[in-house]
Amino acid sequence: MNSFQMPDRYQKADFVKDNFGKIASKYDLFNDLSTFFMHRLWKGEMISAIQKRGFKKPVCVDLCCGTGDISLLINKKLLVETVYSIDFSENMLEIAKNRLKNYPLNHIQLGDATNLKDFSDSSVDVVTVGFGLRNVSSLEKSISEIYRILKKDGIFVNLDVGKVRLPVIKWFANFYFFKIVPILGYIISGKQNKMFDYLPVSSLYYPDQDVLKEILENQGFRNVQYKDFVFGNATMHWGMK
Ligand SMILES: C[S@@+](CC[C@H](N)C(=O)[O-])C[C@H]1O[C@@H](n2cnc3c(N)ncnc32)[C@H](O)[C@@H]1O
Repeated sequence: MNSFQMPDRYQKADFVKDNFGKIASKYDLFNDLSTFFMHRLWKGEMISAIQKRGFKKPVCVDLCCGTGDISLLINKKLLVETVYSIDFSENMLEIAKNRLKNYPLNHIQLGDATNLKDFSDSSVDVVTVGFGLRNVSSLEKSISEIYRILKKDGIFVNLDVGKVRLPVIKWFANFYFFKIVPILGYIISGKQNKMFDYLPVSSLYYPDQDVLKEILENQGFRNVQYKDFVFGNATMHWGMK
């Protein structure tokens, strides 16, 4: 399908940091075009899932925040105490900083989603991750860190690619993701790195909807649910500590 060789788990973090850094200025455009703007609706659904919990002045962490679009929605739609926008790519954070400059309750922090050492146990009400967990070097470490920093009854909401189950749709989805999306990426940002070959291949190493649900439950999350978008091309999981 794609001859791209995934970096092993020791090289993955550097590869991801480096290459997201290189495409940072084009990332939002790429996201809009490659999802036909639908990622905006999916991110809106993340906010609705949080709103349903009725938090009063939650402390929120938007992990792998990238250019900060989910953080922006959180600031706009929720009456928060604080929002921490965390990413390990300085270039992505530069764009987030600009996007969030009018939100004084928002703090941008360079940090690693597999080691949230700046956060103490049970200190956060809401953790969001958009298209991030697929990119971390250890899914288990990140999920365990997210669980650790959440307060009891805190919520974790995760949006990422899912697996399409219907065979015909799956064929089209794979064709689009593996053939068209990389071309679109290279048209937008030039073929200066391997990011757009990495993106579809990374989805092959990411658990399907039911397996991710199980991983979250095994970690201790309860009431774990997921919702598929566009036949499972994208999927949102949420669960409570
Ligand atoms: C696909 S972007 C997602 C950006 C944004 N959340 C969104 O939904 O569009 C993935 C982001 O995760 C960041 N990232 C990947 N692994 C990370 C890690 N271990 N710690 C912090 N950030 C990480 C990358 O730098 C990149 O900005």
